[in-house]
Amino acid sequence: MSASTSVSASPERILVGVAGGIAAYKAAELVRRLRERGVQVRVVMTENAERFVAPLTFQALSGEPVRTSLWDSAAEAAMGHIELARWAQRIVIAPASADLIARLAQGQAGDLLTTLCLASEAPLFVAPAMNRVMWANAAVQANVATLATRGATLLGPDEGDQACGETGVGRMWEAGAIAEAVLEPRPDPAARAVLAGKRLLLTAGPTFEDLDPVRYLGNRSSGRMGYAIATQAQRLGMDVILVSGPVSLPAPSGVRRVSVRSAEDMREAVQAHVSGTDVFIATAAVADFRPSERSDSKIKKRGDGGLTLELVQNPDILAEVAARQDRPFVVGFAAETHDVERYARDKLERKRLDMIAANRVGDDGCGFDADCNALEVFWPEGRAPIGKASKTQVARELLGMIAERLGELRT
Ligand code: CTP
Repeated sequence: MSASTSVSASPERILVGVAGGIAAYKAAELVRRLRERGVQVRVVMTENAERFVAPLTFQALSGEPVRTSLWDSAAEAAMGHIELARWAQRIVIAPASADLIARLAQGQAGDLLTTLCLASEAPLFVAPAMNRVMWANAAVQANVATLATRGATLLGPDEGDQACGETGVGRMWEAGAIAEAVLEPRPDPAARAVLAGKRLLLTAGPTFEDLDPVRYLGNRSSGRMGYAIATQAQRLGMDVILVSGPVSLPAPSGVRRVSVRSAEDMREAVQAHVSGTDVFIATAAVADFRPSERSDSKIKKRGDGGLTLELVQNPDILAEVAARQDRPFVVGFAAETHDVERYARDKLERKRLDMIAANRVGDDGCGFDADCNALEVFWPEGRAPIGKASKTQVARELLGMIAERLGELRT
């Protein structure tokens, strides 16, 4: 990949490569999604892909002729394969079959699609789709690892029901998730160099502390900041486990989600997964207190009298992780209304954190339960602001800072 083609802005010209597999029908949806976002799309199909979907489908959706062969003289006269390779700002292969992945890993150029991949400097995205046993096969895994080492971005596969009737890992990502990943600015290569292959454990969302079978104490955390970090970390090649309180967000593609309800459940899930973790980020708005007792039956009104609840303190999940012998790099969050630096630095020291990201709440509608955020990040020897931006952008910048600190600590 050359510097000239590693565009940092969203791409305008995307080449979609379709390999032979039943998930080829989902590529039609991908083309539609990309076109909706104003992107020019050209589709190249392998011979086997044509057995699953007719080129006419992609021609109608992309509004461009579809290429299927290296030896089509009329098409070569219109836009030769080298021109097509130069035209593409990004190449996404969806679905990528085991066979196509193997041929790409070997650098073969026996057909138009593999030739284009060799002849293009555009970033390559690969969305595998295959039977779960094939995906788990050591040969496939070795080929995928080769592509990743050479800079290809792997999108999936997901776990779930498969066309072959089995259930497991091998399902192609949904078209929307692929489109989103391909359209995003390229992940920061410096952050990727440090973080790829590392394990991230992350808490997100609120916790619900049950009073009885129908009532609970909770908070308004949407989980969006944590989910944005999980998504961006996955894009950087991290192995992400997301321990999530009750939220209405879908699990980010490629991320393992462990769903929990209360602070105690969250602590248990974190303890179960923390060993072997390189980075721990606590974005969850954990309830500081829970009812001292949970009633098994619905609490009834008693005359006109009120109700006094006794609350006990919840364990501090973040401080517990930071106190471990084999502690990962530990990042906390703090929501403050005033004296941001003083309170954040106090938490940094008291909980023995490596970094803390503080946001001022109640200022401008940004932060808690909103789409945007702005942070002030502190670590023992420094601080840096992350200006008001979408949570996706804030997540990228925060991961960049974590990578920088980790890199510094390593040297
Ligand atoms: N946290 C945690 N477990 C708890 C409480 C908080 O892991 N039981 C984590 C949060 O995920 C967050 C950080 O600790 O990363 C927030 O610290 P906390 O002291 O709870 O902050 P505030 O609630 O803002 O504290 P205070 O009420 O003292 O301002």
